[in-house]
Amino acid sequence: MVTSALPYANGPLHVGHVAGAYLPADIFVRYLRAKGKDVVWICGSDEHGAAITLRAKKEGISPQDIVDKYHVIIRDAFDDFGISFDHYGRTTSQQHHQTAQEFFTVLNDKGSFEIKTSEQFFDEEAQQFLADRYITGTCPKCQYDQAYGDQCEKCGSTLSPLELINPRSTLSGSTPVTKETSLWYLPMGDHEDWVKDYLQKGILDGVQHHDPKAWKNHVLGQCKSWIDAGLQSRAMTRDLDWGVPVPVEGADGKVLYVWLDAPIGYVSATQEWAKKNGKDWETYWKDDETALIHFIGKDNIVFHCIIFPILLKERGGYILPTNVPANEFMNLQGDKISTSRNWAVWLHEYLEDFPGRQDELRYVLGSILPEQKDSEFTWGEFQDRVNNELADILGNFVNRAVVLTGKYYDGVIPKAGHFTPEDLQVLEDMRSKRGIVGKSIEAYRFREGLQEAMNIARIGNKYLADSEPWKVYKTDPERVKTILNICLQIVAECTVVLDPFLPFSMQKIRAAMNIGHQAWDSTEAAFAEGQKITSPGILFTKIEDEMVAQQIEKLGSKEVETTIEAPKETCTFDDFVKSDIRVGTILEAEQIPKTKKLLKLRVDIGLEVRTIVSGIAESYSAEDVIGQKVSVIINLAPRKIKGVESEGMILMAQNSEGELSFISPTKDFGSGSTIS
Ligand code: MF3
Ligand code: ZN
Repeated sequence: MVTSALPYANGPLHVGHVAGAYLPADIFVRYLRAKGKDVVWICGSDEHGAAITLRAKKEGISPQDIVDKYHVIIRDAFDDFGISFDHYGRTTSQQHHQTAQEFFTVLNDKGSFEIKTSEQFFDEEAQQFLADRYITGTCPKCQYDQAYGDQCEKCGSTLSPLELINPRSTLSGSTPVTKETSLWYLPMGDHEDWVKDYLQKGILDGVQHHDPKAWKNHVLGQCKSWIDAGLQSRAMTRDLDWGVPVPVEGADGKVLYVWLDAPIGYVSATQEWAKKNGKDWETYWKDDETALIHFIGKDNIVFHCIIFPILLKERGGYILPTNVPANEFMNLQGDKISTSRNWAVWLHEYLEDFPGRQDELRYVLGSILPEQKDSEFTWGEFQDRVNNELADILGNFVNRAVVLTGKYYDGVIPKAGHFTPEDLQVLEDMRSKRGIVGKSIEAYRFREGLQEAMNIARIGNKYLADSEPWKVYKTDPERVKTILNICLQIVAECTVVLDPFLPFSMQKIRAAMNIGHQAWDSTEAAFAEGQKITSPGILFTKIEDEMVAQQIEKLGSKEVETTIEAPKETCTFDDFVKSDIRVGTILEAEQIPKTKKLLKLRVDIGLEVRTIVSGIAESYSAEDVIGQKVSVIINLAPRKIKGVESEGMILMAQNSEGELSFISPTKDFGSGSTIS
């Protein structure tokens, strides 16, 4: 059972996300599939929580609109990038709400929570309780003035909202008052003993559950400092109107805490997957023989290593994480990745700027994954690695092996003759890599695995250069058959061992060589001698300086995100032709007093002159519009606006920033001309 952190559906994904929880998991899962393991990999959108409601507020649309939009953008970007989840769910699904509520109910009935009434911040303007992220203020520990109610991002301290100095509501900016409310707390302190054994010794219920040495040091380190500080009770409900409602009588206006709700999303998404595929979800969550692996970024460690395990164990019958191979952060071009400063490489933009070049980014990110410490992505390194490693080593080797086979043997794989000791050594080196790469992947050392896998191409490249078949062909053509046979064996080996890392290119090679996707443990020959192959074409083209410069240029530039409105429902032609639209000419205009937006216009529509009230004053002033040709719907029922009878409507184009533009004929057409 493999999971990747459910991304908040409140913005697109950047390379830091990809390098944290998704690419490593994809490599891992592709490998396990090749090993023939029964593996299911689950992810989905995290659609509740303050991250969503705050974003919705900012954009002036509903939380549902926000999650609908980003769910699709994120899901499609993952798909395009070859992130091969078995299922991508969402926490607003019905299945999820049901599962999360049931989970809560069982715990509540068992008495796993303490219900406490306490003073919480309340925003009187917004008429809402303010949880965590809705409050900022000065950190009592380091005086940073932008600390959140739950955490100071400057000094890293965990805070409670009431500790903040000068608290402010992020909803209205006002100073919140305190008001009483009841919350359901998880008394984590009660679980401290077993959590310690589980994390520090790998012992659960008195038996060895896993080897703690297999966990990353930084993961255990973070957990240890939490435990050493003493586990505090944590509220599992929030007073909010967006989320999974607390399934308790009288708990109106309360929802589950997003960090209770979201991880249960792994379970509900597994249930959805199982239903669709005729499987039993319980095999993956309740069977002691199942290993549960969570891929996450380091900001999610305590939730996956401490809080969720406590919830799972309290719930009973569920397995606990076998490992949580969290990654650290990836920086970008000398600075921290930042959404607000647009200091990021967005996945969906990369896919637009570099179409069909998923493996290039997979390779570079795979080479610099922040596995043990923070790492850094630069476009210069991207270029170097693509050009000097992918193109010059892997691409070049595959290309030469295939082209020479085409040239000398018409694309028919030649039969090997006598192997020299050097040949045998090369074949042995090549064959040793599967085991080595597999070990690295199983230990979550993907960078190392990728380098070892690339070494197969290096072996091939060197062998080809040393054996010089293009020279030998003139004197000993029989020998060349053996050389190229070996080269093609090496190419075929690449398609197995590099497949988890570079699935698109390896698929291209397999298709060109007409070979199947071999199982990792298979010892069968990859191809039959005499089999015909074609060229996969150039696998990796070089990245030009120009492209690098363009990408660097783009960083930090505040290109306003253009939001394109969703299409409306289909309407019939008959519906459409009911509107009578004409060219009109504005003759007079005046601002309607005490309004910001409204102009009162006199418009010549050919048939007559009409009075029309139009909400365009933020884009056009009264003086500007005299003489302007416009499009007018003339058969709408008249309507009184601010005391003025409006006898028509001017059609306007509107961009994503809300700016308006007239729609006028581009030829000099007279008033009254029809528009259809
Ligand atoms: N949405 C969270 C984040 O991006 C991760 C949620 S992981 C889950 O930080 F376990 F809660 F699903
Ligand atoms: Zn601080």
